[in-house]
Amino acid sequence: MRLQVVRHPLVEDVLAALRDAQTSAAEFRRLAHRVSLLLVAEATRDLPTADVDVETPLEVTKARRLARRVVAVPVLRAGLGMLDAFLELVPSAQVGYVGLERDERTAVARRYYEKLPKRLEDAVVYLLDPMLATGGSAAHAIDGLNGHGARTVRLLSIVAAPEGVAHLEKTVPGAEVYTAALDRELNDQKYILPGLGDFGDRLFGT
Ligand code: PRP
Ligand code: URA
Repeated sequence: MRLQVVRHPLVEDVLAALRDAQTSAAEFRRLAHRVSLLLVAEATRDLPTADVDVETPLEVTKARRLARRVVAVPVLRAGLGMLDAFLELVPSAQVGYVGLERDERTAVARRYYEKLPKRLEDAVVYLLDPMLATGGSAAHAIDGLNGHGARTVRLLSIVAAPEGVAHLEKTVPGAEVYTAALDRELNDQKYILPGLGDFGDRLFGT
């Protein structure tokens, strides 16, 4: 499995504010958007482009446009906090949704919703889920996307735990993971340490 920890001073800066327990939900949403922009830029760096002719006000010139179908799949709920940033940078992306919820006691993920574009075979699929903790949710989602034919799946996470990375390595070795931070460990409740708490709750003020 390919893991890339995106290192950038702006990522560090936004992470510090996201981790701060005093950050309000409104500010948390803005910060999630900002760090997602940086992740998306990095994770789309190698997408293919094709020559096109563009007429500037002065002459015709060669330019390059994106030449690969892109699908973004936010994992409900928390992944919604990354979707606007994704569409801001890749406005032509199609969007699918997967709803997953961890059982509060066992931390095992259960799927409650799925709506995906057709023909995932020829697309680069970006799974948006800010927290990679045990890895159960991401493995479940990636498995589902592969089951629908997806061949290239890239997970964009904001904070990952080593346990989650190890789980993905074992269960979906073909996946690619981009994360803004690789944290220390999980606590007994399977929350990431130091982490930033419950992303969905902080994003939606619940
Ligand atoms: C959070 C998060 C991930 C999952 C990660 O979702 O958004 O989907 O936990 O944990 P895991 O790696 O141990 O599976 P949660 O189940 O809390 O649902 P929510 O987004 O609706 O709050
Ligand atoms: N989900 C979260 O939102 N936070 C964690 O630390 C782990 C799972």
